[in-house]
Amino acid sequence: MWNFMGFFPGYFDFILLEFVGFYGFFPGSFVKVGEFRKFLGFIYSGGVNINYVAVGNEPTLQTYNGTYLSYMLPALRNIQEALNRAGHGDRIKATIPFNADVYYSPDSDPVPSAGDFRPEVRDLTLEILQFLHENSAPFTVNIYPFLSLYGNKNFPIDYAFFEGSNVPIKDQGLTYTNVFDANFDTLVSALNKAGYPDMEIIVGEVGWPTDGDIHANVENAKRFNQGLLQHIMSGEGTPLRKGKINVYLFSLIDENAKSIAPGNFERHWGIFEFDGMPKYELDLAGMQEDRTLIPVEGVVYMVKRWCVLNPDATNLGDLPNNINYACSLSDCTTLGYGCSCNHLTVRGNASYAFNMYYQIKSQNIWDCDFDGLAMITDQDPSESSCQFPIMIDYGSSGILHKGLFEVLLTSLSVCILFLLVL
Ligand SMILES: *[C@@H]1O[C@H](CO)[C@@H](O)[C@H](O)[C@H]1NC(C)=O
Ligand SMILES: *[C@@H]1O[C@H](CO)[C@@H](O)[C@H](O)[C@H]1NC(C)=O
Repeated sequence: MWNFMGFFPGYFDFILLEFVGFYGFFPGSFVKVGEFRKFLGFIYSGGVNINYVAVGNEPTLQTYNGTYLSYMLPALRNIQEALNRAGHGDRIKATIPFNADVYYSPDSDPVPSAGDFRPEVRDLTLEILQFLHENSAPFTVNIYPFLSLYGNKNFPIDYAFFEGSNVPIKDQGLTYTNVFDANFDTLVSALNKAGYPDMEIIVGEVGWPTDGDIHANVENAKRFNQGLLQHIMSGEGTPLRKGKINVYLFSLIDENAKSIAPGNFERHWGIFEFDGMPKYELDLAGMQEDRTLIPVEGVVYMVKRWCVLNPDATNLGDLPNNINYACSLSDCTTLGYGCSCNHLTVRGNASYAFNMYYQIKSQNIWDCDFDGLAMITDQDPSESSCQFPIMIDYGSSGILHKGLFEVLLTSLSVCILFLLVL
């Protein structure tokens, strides 16, 4: 839901619907009204089945220091009213995807039943709840057990997954064996206290990254996502809310230009690689059948050529600056501690960085120099756990004419990000 451009600028037109809400922050501009019309243009028989418009993205996030608070309700109103006026209000609801840090349980009583909205945003949240209620719109929250684990060395790892925990939380006769349920029910308790015990809840984002941290790998991502799907499709619900839960998996593909301020893992949330290849088996129906996700067909790659450190280079003193330069303009998030390419030597690091830069620059000869340290090779430097990728060929790839998303939609039949798993 952030930067989908990556290597495919311009091919994600209808992602705009994710950003329409953001445009709502600046009402009145002609261009933005135009974008809104464009988004409505996707609604036709056989077109896109749009149920919700996300207004902003986690605007109450504590790191934003309150910057967006005053825009939230006016933006939500504008978007819903525009939908109503366009005749779609009954079917399409505007909602704000909140970060789970909008609610909490006090340290003195850290259980779901003690959940409430954070005092500094409580009044605003109550006004938003009232508006959502009047419009029969759901409350949307993004829940990330991975971040609980990432942010806390002492977090019990099995509590992040769904196979039960040695240290369950007991709360008023209820037992919590996973942090997803505990987090969800903290929200249910907060909604109860606010007077909206029946408000529908949508989990707008949930997922697990496959690289960029010691806990981010394919095994854990599969374990989490498969466990989640089985849990929600079973219909057992959470201890406080029975029934199926509306969940959107994050994310469809890796986003290699996304900010890594929160951590290297930010570029590795995809269930598919950047090129539409599935990373692991995932049974979206939650049946534990190891069903295969279908790769995108017809992807054309650039020539099998890599840019690596020249073994004969002698000016190794120039390495650090050149590595930094290459990494700052490409993506070296797999080199960090606990990541898939962390075991490389200094020389391996250099080759990795040079290659990423060279590939992102479309394999121009002049982008594989680095003060004479680099050379082009047709020998693949990849190892099983550490891939030196080759990028998609912009010029000749068939998918560019069709639009990658259209290809993904056709070949997957479902678009995971937009599919309401229900
Ligand atoms: C929030 O405030 C902190 C401390 O004053 C500052 O370092 C940070 O840049 C601010 N963040 C934003 C998004 O304004
Ligand atoms: C390779 O680069 C990573 C990321 O900058 C660094 O953590 C690691 O120590 C480097 N490896 C060596 C052998 O220098």
